[in-house]
Amino acid sequence: MAKRTIDKAKAAKKDEFYTQLEDINNELHHYHDHFRGKTVLCNCDDPRISNFFTYFAYNFEFLGLKKLITTCYKNQNMDLFSQNQSEQAVYLVYEGDKNGNRIPDAEEIGVKPLKGDGDFRSKECIELLKEADIVVTNPPFSLFREYVAQLIEYDKKFLIIGHQNALSYKEIFPLIRDNKMWLGFGFKGNAGHFISSYEDVATAGTHRKGMIRVSGVTWFTNLDYKERHENLILYKSYTPDEYPQYINYDAIEVSKTELIPCDYDGVMGVPITFMDKYNPDQFEIIGIGNGGELGVECGVSANLTAEQCAALFREDKSFRKGKLCYRNDKGKLIGCYARILIRKRA
Ligand SMILES: C[S@@+](CC[C@H](N)C(=O)[O-])C[C@H]1O[C@@H](n2cnc3c(N)ncnc32)[C@H](O)[C@@H]1O
Repeated sequence: MAKRTIDKAKAAKKDEFYTQLEDINNELHHYHDHFRGKTVLCNCDDPRISNFFTYFAYNFEFLGLKKLITTCYKNQNMDLFSQNQSEQAVYLVYEGDKNGNRIPDAEEIGVKPLKGDGDFRSKECIELLKEADIVVTNPPFSLFREYVAQLIEYDKKFLIIGHQNALSYKEIFPLIRDNKMWLGFGFKGNAGHFISSYEDVATAGTHRKGMIRVSGVTWFTNLDYKERHENLILYKSYTPDEYPQYINYDAIEVSKTELIPCDYDGVMGVPITFMDKYNPDQFEIIGIGNGGELGVECGVSANLTAEQCAALFREDKSFRKGKLCYRNDKGKLIGCYARILIRKRA
């Protein structure tokens, strides 16, 4: 249900939901060492309401920051649920405590007008981006591809919130495969509650007043952290019966991350949730069989003729060239959900 909320939000461009301070704190404490002497930019954040601003302003001295810049999109009115009605926006610069009370006072915070609406893609916002060392925010999910592309273009360090579905976007997956971006420590249970006026469809047990629950939400980053290098403990042994070979790619199917065999050296297809446990020192990412362009690009079904593909499609209408499939012990064709193709490092 919550996944539908986020899909609907993307479709309707409902990007107004706000990150809780607790969630920012839970993630950020894995990266403290990265921030010393750095300029941080939060570029999708009304500084007067953003908990990202609050986090960095109140931890400015603790983290040893050089400068904090926060830009606001469109709205200048102090209102938690921004309606984006004002075309002009503001940005805010904080350079640390000056009067010794270790609190970011109003007179220490410079509020400056932007010429335009504060769109992160605008020329003036790009100038602020150039000045920044690290970008930290929860950007609009509807613009996630463009948002990440801009961070990569300007070669920025970043820590941002997104949806795990983005992992299999054709613009995002190559960055994950090539170790230019990875998942952060993450939200507990891969779900988060965000402050929002949107209708929440979470079940009664998980509903929180004034919030929407979003499942599959995660952090994306290119900042390294210790836990990312912890080995996944493998305890299963490979047997051909338990791990079927795909018929359209030279790899075996592993239906759950914890079932990855410890003694198999070839390529394995694992669920997308593997990325939460991915240690780049332990595994290499080869590609993705997601049923789409990326699957075809990494050679899924390259071993089949057009006639063989057509026959598989007649047998199961869900067959796609880029989708991994195998035959079960009764000979039935089984098409897999998206799989990351990995191999153990020697
Ligand atoms: C998911 S909300 C998160 C807000 C805030 N970063 C937080 O986490 O509390 C995304 C924010 O991006 C803003 N936004 C939407 N389009 C934008 C754009 N083109 N440039 C900059 N910000 C934008 C929205 O107004 C919204 O406040």
